[in-house]
Amino acid sequence: MSETAEIKLDGQTYNLPVVTGSEGEKAIDIKGLRGETGYITLDSGYKNTGATESAITFLDGEKGILRYGGYPIEQLAEHSTFLEVAYLLIKGELPTKEQFKDFNNKITRHTLIHEDMKQFYEAYPRKAHPMAVLASMLCTLSTFYPESQDADRDIDSVDLTITRLIAKISTIAAWSYKNSVGHPVVYPQNKFNYIENFMNMMFSMPTEEYEINPVIADALDKLLILHADHEQNCSASTVRLVGSSKANLYSSISAGVIALWGPLHGGANQAVIEMLDKVRKDGGSIEKWVEKAKDKNDPFKLMGFGHRVYKNFDPRAKIIKKACDDVLENLGIQDPILDLAKKLEEVALRDDYFIERKLYPNVDFYSGIIYKAIGIPTDMFTVMFAMGRLPGWIAQWQEMINRKEPIGRPRQIYTGPTVRDYTPINNR
Ligand code: SDX
Repeated sequence: MSETAEIKLDGQTYNLPVVTGSEGEKAIDIKGLRGETGYITLDSGYKNTGATESAITFLDGEKGILRYGGYPIEQLAEHSTFLEVAYLLIKGELPTKEQFKDFNNKITRHTLIHEDMKQFYEAYPRKAHPMAVLASMLCTLSTFYPESQDADRDIDSVDLTITRLIAKISTIAAWSYKNSVGHPVVYPQNKFNYIENFMNMMFSMPTEEYEINPVIADALDKLLILHADHEQNCSASTVRLVGSSKANLYSSISAGVIALWGPLHGGANQAVIEMLDKVRKDGGSIEKWVEKAKDKNDPFKLMGFGHRVYKNFDPRAKIIKKACDDVLENLGIQDPILDLAKKLEEVALRDDYFIERKLYPNVDFYSGIIYKAIGIPTDMFTVMFAMGRLPGWIAQWQEMINRKEPIGRPRQIYTGPTVRDYTPINNR
């Protein structure tokens, strides 16, 4: 007899099915609730509501566990590569040597963007935020591949769109940076691997060849792995919702980029550095800013702290904090911002306000310090997050399509005026 949840409404008893996941998580399946009882559920921000069943990523907020396809993030960050993790998320299994070679070659061969897209860069204001550029350029890709707009696309054309997205996002990102500093764009080169190509497009100059630093390449690869997926977060849910209307994959991903841009989500990595800078310029009084973060009347929040799911620690933050030390030491950089971040973490984690609310550093708290150390400008930090998260968004979109999930359309409880008659303006 399968497990059920009993609810009593208006003197009637209903039994709703209970769903149990492969890690023992439980949910009450309410798909029949409204039909049987006339009631819906209400859960602002979906804090307690599951949107789907998914086999891509598992995270346990209490135990600080994060696994892609069952593989612990600590092992993948240590031993895998970003493109291999992208394959795992999208295909559900780690690739064989042959499969990876084919996947990697296809991506290498699709890194160029149409020359006509260069005109769009010239039309943006120099200081256009690269997240605005990224979102529009990714959506614009669909205009260069109109066949991708066909809702009932076949698997081969979906695979080609996936390849194009992963290949071209790094070129689009690097070119938005070059355009913002008035430097000529650098074309991708097939001799480089994915990360090296991005670094070369970002930092190479016509006047001098950029020398790839393996320490930086390794740190970037690790950061992209750590950002690759995070189950039903705000931007992944956006990609799923937009994709559920059968909008094309380019547009669904573009919507995910825009959702990620928010400072409460991926935009936090830029906001952390801006916050630490503000604290430093203000004389570095940690206690003053921690008090501000606790003050309900003060809109200031400790950016990079807190998480909807992790109520213990964000395993990614632990790995990134260690990578921070390694990269800065290796590059011989003494960044006062890192010391400030560590002090802020120490003070906050001793403070009852943060302890009671289980607020710990999240993935965004230390990542910006590494990006800054390797020369990536602050307004490009969330673009880096988007580059890392792209395979996760693709995997979430693909799972929603393959499971033939219905168009997402939540209900509501109406609280506005009840029916009333219109009166012409002269009578009001
Ligand atoms: C990401 O979902 C994901 O998986 C996201 C992500 C991913 O990989 O996709 O992990 C990436 O988005 C990480 C989060 C980055 N955002 C930030 O660092 C911004 C700062 N953090 C907060 O805005 C907040 O913690 C959230 C948005 C991350 C989570 O918000 P919740 O779950 O809605 O929690 P809440 O706002 O209801 O906070 C609970 C309490 C409140 O106080 P009380 O009303 O109970 O008194 O904690 C307080 C909040 O005021 N609080 C903070 C705080 N975060 C929460 N107080 C001060 N500083 C903070 N950072």
